[in-house]
Amino acid sequence: MKQELEKIEKEALEAIRAVSDPTGVRTLNARYLGRKGIVTGLLRKVSGLPPEERPETGKLANKLKKRIEKALEKAVQVFEAGRDKAAEDALDVTLPGRPLAGGRMHPITQMTQAICNVFQRLGFEIVEGPDVESDYYNFEALNIPRDHPARDMQDTFYISENIVLRTHTSPIQVRVMESQPPPVRIIAPGKAYRVDSDISHTPMFHQVEGLMVQENVSFGDLKGILTTFVQQIFDEETSLRFRPSFFPFTEPSAEVDIRCVICRGAGCRVCSHTGWLEVLGAGMVHPAVFEMVGYDTERYSGFAFGMGIERIAMLKYGIEDIRKFYENDLRFLEQF
Ligand code: FA5
Ligand code: MG
Repeated sequence: MKQELEKIEKEALEAIRAVSDPTGVRTLNARYLGRKGIVTGLLRKVSGLPPEERPETGKLANKLKKRIEKALEKAVQVFEAGRDKAAEDALDVTLPGRPLAGGRMHPITQMTQAICNVFQRLGFEIVEGPDVESDYYNFEALNIPRDHPARDMQDTFYISENIVLRTHTSPIQVRVMESQPPPVRIIAPGKAYRVDSDISHTPMFHQVEGLMVQENVSFGDLKGILTTFVQQIFDEETSLRFRPSFFPFTEPSAEVDIRCVICRGAGCRVCSHTGWLEVLGAGMVHPAVFEMVGYDTERYSGFAFGMGIERIAMLKYGIEDIRKFYENDLRFLEQF
């Protein structure tokens, strides 16, 4: 019996030393100390021994049990310590991920696309032109000679005597007409630059130029197209008004205002207390411009317009200061 005990202890301690994971410890625990375990069986056997052998063997068996218990406990502790460390190092896949900052399009880009979509549906093609423009395309070809007082209407950023940052998108009209015969039906979105800054003006802003030239184009067509446009961008109820105006490159000319949506026409800071906000300039292309690009003024007529995209976005979203678009305040930009 004594030898048997020694053998069991040796085996048990070796097995415990060799164990490599918590499951192994549990298995050994069951094998030796469980209800049907080896040590439990031994203790039961002790009670069947002759009375004179019982005390000593019983003592030995109990000591064996204690030693195996201790060894198992120790093994558990080792794994537990290891597990804490492992848990610290491990990737917890149940944790929420790091939020990705989702980018989005600038409200002016969104508005530009919305405007272009309306005109594309009406059969207009999108074209672009350079931001840095020659004096010729920005002014001369648009019937604004060097000493013409109309140059004062737009405070120009000059790069050199003959090169400017375009003050409007109208030079694109000239570039398009130079490169193709009528019919023409284009819109040209892009940046424009002027020495100008207040609640409704920024030094850099965006315009969409429109041009339609073919036989028998009338001012009525212009009015119809612009009314359709305003109703699609805003709603059927939005009113607009044509105000007689002057541009050297159109005759007759008009400026178009939209009912101020900030104050609903009552008058406020944004509309300079008039109830209306100017959004575009327009008119019938001046014969002098057609002559510059070699179009037959007897045969063709056309209209052109240039609208301020920021102004339209302000009206659409009820923004009272144009400068908000360019302050890069995410709290503002994230609303769109
Ligand atoms: C023009 O620029 C003409 N080229 C428009 C035109 C095109 C007329 C074709 C006839 C035929 P105007 O200077 O009025 O016109 O500007 C047009 C629009 O641009 C204005 O109604 C306004 O909405 C916008 N705009 C002008 N200056 C600024 C600015 N500094 N900041 C923001 N928007 C501006
Ligand atoms: Mg104007």
